[in-house]
Amino acid sequence: MDLMGTLRRTHHCNELGIEDVGKRVTLMGWVLRRRDHGGVIFIDLRDRQGLTQIVFNPEVNPQVHAEAHRLRSEWVIAVQGVVEPRPGDMANPKLVTGEIEVLIDELRILNISETPPFPLDEDTEVSDNLRLQYRYLDLRKPEMAANLIMRHTAVQAIRNYLNEHYFIDVETPMLTKSTPEGARDYLVPSRVNAGRFYALPQSPQLFKQLLMIAGMDRYYQIVKCFRDEDLRADRQPEFTQIDMEMSFADEEQVIEIVEGMISSLFQATLGLDVCPPFTRISYDQALGRYGTDRPDTRFGMELIDLTDIAAECNFKVFRGAADSGGTVRALNAKGCGTFTRKELDDLTDFAVQLGARGLAWVKVKDGGEWQSPIAKFFSDQERSSIASTLDAEPGDLLFFGADTSSTVYQVLGELRVELARRLNMLDKSTYNFIWVTDFPLLEYDDKEKRYQALHHPFTAPREEDIDKLSSDPAAVYSRAYDLVLNGTEIGGGSIRIHNPKTQLKVLKALSISEEEANEKFGFLLRALEFGAPPHGGIAFGLDRLLMLITGGDSIRNVIAFPKTQKATCPLTDAPSKVARKQLTELHVRPDWKE
Ligand code: AMO
Ligand code: AMP
Repeated sequence: MDLMGTLRRTHHCNELGIEDVGKRVTLMGWVLRRRDHGGVIFIDLRDRQGLTQIVFNPEVNPQVHAEAHRLRSEWVIAVQGVVEPRPGDMANPKLVTGEIEVLIDELRILNISETPPFPLDEDTEVSDNLRLQYRYLDLRKPEMAANLIMRHTAVQAIRNYLNEHYFIDVETPMLTKSTPEGARDYLVPSRVNAGRFYALPQSPQLFKQLLMIAGMDRYYQIVKCFRDEDLRADRQPEFTQIDMEMSFADEEQVIEIVEGMISSLFQATLGLDVCPPFTRISYDQALGRYGTDRPDTRFGMELIDLTDIAAECNFKVFRGAADSGGTVRALNAKGCGTFTRKELDDLTDFAVQLGARGLAWVKVKDGGEWQSPIAKFFSDQERSSIASTLDAEPGDLLFFGADTSSTVYQVLGELRVELARRLNMLDKSTYNFIWVTDFPLLEYDDKEKRYQALHHPFTAPREEDIDKLSSDPAAVYSRAYDLVLNGTEIGGGSIRIHNPKTQLKVLKALSISEEEANEKFGFLLRALEFGAPPHGGIAFGLDRLLMLITGGDSIRNVIAFPKTQKATCPLTDAPSKVARKQLTELHVRPDWKE
């Protein structure tokens, strides 16, 4: 503070423009780069907001100019001077402050810096580990600062919208009991209760339902959730949800509120009108047409069902799949008939890694001829019927999957997106929202030999399906809805069960005994007995939304201090070892070797 003396900032580094010429200003920030030009020193001064070019001219103040020679990257300085227009051809239209520079006559060095381990002013490839280890430097990069500012803007817009719509923000516990959302729990041992553990919440699901039972009517929270699962570009072990719940609401009311919130969010962050209502698609349709329940609808190339044709043909791979209750589907990569043998082999490997037994393809030649390893298995008539179903024209490339439905969906669903990626069809400035609805309530888990909840066990079944819970559980549909944006699931929710009897029936269908249910979430079952209102809600992945809004490929870039693929933090070195004594206090007896 001493060094700054009586100097006070008058502007941030992204503020001054041609209208400020002649003003005397004080700026503070970091030295991004220094250039010496025939005695005159130019420095790009950087702060959170942006850059301003400052100039040290020996004719203005020789002493200050000499001092400026010492400045190095990332030194922290305060400067004072007069705003001048840049000479005509020196203006930089890419910078907000590109029309001006500040001619400095006073300089204070507030702090020096070691040479950063990676340059902050270029697009040099830096390993993710190094970036995370020196995250405080990484965050100085303008694009990273912009991401955090965007996140702040997003959160403000969401809060404003929800506050205006009668939602209240209520905090729920972090040290709590397991909430079943399908991942492993992070556990915290209790010191004062030997042998007992808290679980960090996978979501506030049960608490938000309790808040509805408590009469809070409309709740929201922007809240950390913890899931110990395999990490990917769009998954972190701790991530943030925009969590909300409404009483006396049905699907339509939740969807309407949410569409309004998403509109406000995109308006505030990108100035974009996303034009609700959003399209809707049923889960079955989404799987059949896109091979996934999170369809990317920015491009076509939909899966086309050929099972009926396959059932009549002589190619045993196709016929076999059709006869054994599987499916045969295809997609038409328009104009991709020029793919090389190597590209086709790569794509075949891609499919095989996803569980396919092969990837049949056809190049459609002039006159409709097939160039394909499977051409010989089909009659002229079969070929033309397949071609017309697929709307195939000369120059097209057709891919086929024949297997169980789940394998075909997975393989062709991912192949579709991979092809779009290779063909540059994934335009990041297009935002295609789609609601996926009419999910099955349960899915059969072949390994565990029992049904699992497709969402979570508190999701309401469709009223008309409740009777089927015991007779035909697979045929029960739920009142869940997911919102998908450009192929990423950004949010999911449902109308909940508010009737304790129905809740018990669903738990029974999940093969959860009454005893187990009571042990795990008896408190919710009990609460449902005391006048639970009908209610429903949804939770959004805030990090995922911001990844898409900022056009990034990973949620890490919109989180200040994220974790690596192995759930570690290179900055703090968490998770780290603890003293044996600490473990003993926690009644944990480790049997691993140091
Ligand atoms: P769900 O489990 O679908 O629903 O989670 C809601 C949203 O959170 C985001 N998300 C994640 N983001 C980053 N990293 C992760 N590991 C991660 N896991 C989930 C996704 C997802 O759509 N309680 C229910 C919501 C409800 O029913 O109201 C729930 O948690 O964008
Ligand atoms: P094959 O008769 O095994 O030589 O297969 C002929 C062609 O069909 C090859 O191009 C394989 O990649 C492809 N193929 C094999 N099994 C499948 C399958 N289950 N789905 C799609 N294509 C397949």
